[in-house]
Amino acid sequence: MDIKRFTYQVAMITGAASGIGRACALRFAQEGANVACLDFDAARNEEAAAECRALGVDALAFKCDVSKRDDLQQAAAAVLEAWGRIDVLVAAAGIYSGSPLAEVPLPQWQRLIDINLTGVFLSNQAVAPVLMQQRAGSIINISSMAGKTSWPASAEYSASKSGVIGLTRSVAMELAPFGATCNAVCPGNTLTDMVRNVAAIVGPQDGLTAAEWLQARANECPMKRMAEPWEIAGVVAFLASPDSRYLTGQAIEVDGGMVMS
Ligand SMILES: NC(=O)c1ccc[n+]([C@@H]2O[C@H](COP(=O)([O-])OP(=O)(O)OC[C@H]3O[C@@H](n4cnc5c(N)ncnc54)[C@H](O)[C@@H]3O)[C@@H](O)[C@H]2O)c1
Repeated sequence: MDIKRFTYQVAMITGAASGIGRACALRFAQEGANVACLDFDAARNEEAAAECRALGVDALAFKCDVSKRDDLQQAAAAVLEAWGRIDVLVAAAGIYSGSPLAEVPLPQWQRLIDINLTGVFLSNQAVAPVLMQQRAGSIINISSMAGKTSWPASAEYSASKSGVIGLTRSVAMELAPFGATCNAVCPGNTLTDMVRNVAAIVGPQDGLTAAEWLQARANECPMKRMAEPWEIAGVVAFLASPDSRYLTGQAIEVDGGMVMS
C-alpha cells in the first residue's frame, strides 16, 4: 500500500484489538495516520497498537469499555491531548449473541444493546463535537447486513444493527453543516473471531462442524465466500477519504451481494 491518504491525520478505532477494527487500525496506519486503539481486551489492543507503530506511525492503546461514557470521553480527551485533533472515528466494537426470541434473557438483550448500540452512540457523542469544531472529519459506524435484513434467533443483534443505521443518519444530519460526514458500513459474514466463535457454537447445534457451518454460510453469498477483514477496512478508509466528501448518512453493504437494496 503506497497511497497515504491520512498522513498528519488521527484515527480513533473502537474494537481495534480484533477482526474488522484491527484491520481498520492497520489500514489507517499503513496510510499514514496516527492511530488510537480502543478495546476492552487490553493485551490484544496493545498488540494492535504495536503493529500500527511498526508501520511507522504513532499509536496509543486505551483499555476502554464502549458501554461506559467516561471511558470514551477520557480516551477522546487523551487523544486530543496527544495529537491535537481527531479526523476519523471507526466504531467497530461489538459482540454477537443469539437465541430464539422466547429464550432471550433480558440481561443478554441489555448487554448486547449496551455494547453494539449504546457503545456506538457514546463513541459518536465523544467525537462529533471535535469534528464540528474542526469543521472536518468522518465517522464510520460498523453496522451489519443484519441491520438491513435478518434471520431467526437474532433479535437483539439485528435490532442493535438497525439502530446503528438510524443513529448514523441522525449524526450525519448534525455533522453535515460542519462539512463532516457520518456513514455506516454493513458487512456480510467476515472471517473474524466473532464468526469463528459463532461457528463453533451454532455449527454443532445444526449437526455441522464449525468448518462445515462456515462453508454453508459462505455458500449463501453470491460470491461463495466470506469477506476478509481488510476488505471491510478498504471501504471504511474510502469513507474517511476526500473521495467521499459528499457521501453522508448512508449505510453501505459490503457483503459480496448478500443484501441488495
Ligand atoms: N464478522 C462478521 O461477520 C461481522 C459481520 C457484520 C458486522 N460485524 C460487526 O463488525 C464489528 C467488529 O466485529 P468483528 O467481527 O471484528 O468481531 P471481533 O470479535 O473479532 O472483534 C470485536 C472487538 O470488539 C471488542 N469489544 C467487544 N465489546 C467491547 C466493549 N464493551 N468495549 C470495547 N471493546 C469491545 C472485542 O474485545 C474485540 O476486540 C462488530 O460491530 C460486529 O457486529 C461483524
